[in-house]
Amino acid sequence: MSEMTLIDGLPIKGKRTLIRVDFNVPLKDGQVADDSRIRAALPTIKYAVDAGARVILVSHLGRPKGQPDPKLTLAPAGAHLAGLLGREVILADEPIGDGVSHLAHGLRDGQILLLENIRFHPGETKNDEGLSRALAQITEVYINDAFGAAHRAHASTAGIAALIRERAAGFLMAQEVKALSRLVNAPRDGFVAILGGAKVSDKIKVIERLLGKVEALIIGGAMAYTFLAAKGQRVGASKIEEGHIDTARRVLKMAAEAGVEVLLPVDHACAREFSADAKRVLVHDVEIPDGMMGLDIGEQTIAAFQRRLERAKTIFWNGPMGVFEFDAFALGTRQVAAAVADASAFSVVGGGDSVRAVKESGRADDISHISTGGGASLEFIEGQALPGLLALGYGRG
Ligand code: 3PG
Repeated sequence: MSEMTLIDGLPIKGKRTLIRVDFNVPLKDGQVADDSRIRAALPTIKYAVDAGARVILVSHLGRPKGQPDPKLTLAPAGAHLAGLLGREVILADEPIGDGVSHLAHGLRDGQILLLENIRFHPGETKNDEGLSRALAQITEVYINDAFGAAHRAHASTAGIAALIRERAAGFLMAQEVKALSRLVNAPRDGFVAILGGAKVSDKIKVIERLLGKVEALIIGGAMAYTFLAAKGQRVGASKIEEGHIDTARRVLKMAAEAGVEVLLPVDHACAREFSADAKRVLVHDVEIPDGMMGLDIGEQTIAAFQRRLERAKTIFWNGPMGVFEFDAFALGTRQVAAAVADASAFSVVGGGDSVRAVKESGRADDISHISTGGGASLEFIEGQALPGLLALGYGRG
């Protein structure tokens, strides 16, 4: 693969430097609830400021459908960034337009302008040429540091890059690519992947790809019940994907043929209903009685997963082991987070709930790489060319 040019390989002093960041962060009561993605972009932003660039930050937040939505303003993210940097962040009240152009051309060296949510413009998700051109008009140097959005071929992640000669990756983008490349190139010996979450259908491509790379595959979360159903086990009222029982069967067959050990839950934490205050009932058996639904992995399963992870040399984890948002059913995910942190392996964690579990357990520092990309990290591991990287000239051989 071709090497990526990095921001520190370009002259940016005095240049209007547009940095695409991923400030798609959770908000609560108008405040940033988890600032990981903002912090992850700080090295690039600080570098640009210190180098005397005139910094223009562009991000999306949520999925506002191409029109302004006050609930999805980047104002809280801008205020938060200003607090972290201890310097002013000018917030434009629109993603592009005469006002933005005026502000951008008026920037002094080291100043920061944050454009309003780029998805307020209908052209962003369509990779519209008009929007790409409008962004290019205020840009002298283009930097993409939004790994979390690198799997989107949008105007600010792909279209604009083709119009700017001076373009490069930010430090976060480079760090993500390095860690995920190390993961996909890791030796099979000792490589254990843990996949969770609701749907087999969301993870099928990554599972297929991982089967050629790993020694063991640990499966938890609601998708585990589809696998158990595929093995002919009783799953009670657990949420399964009927239409994907065959897919799960095919995966199990492929795994057997490839000599990949598959670990599924052997016991469960169940409830009679899907609700946050449902009573947690332990079922000490792989089969789930009628009327009960599995909402988390059980204690024997946690122990088995922990033992397997102790021997791992490389670990990739994406997706919760149970209904993590219900406190009574978060134990499995938390314990797996601790086991990944305890392991001496090179470990990569991606995806909202898994990352949150690692952080809540206070063990983030014990993970080799926490990816800021959920979908993007999966697509990278699937071996798909990410438009945001291709646009920087990375991955064209
Ligand atoms: C993410 O949160 O995964 C990225 O910011 C991409 O967001 P999207 O799925 O709305 O494109």
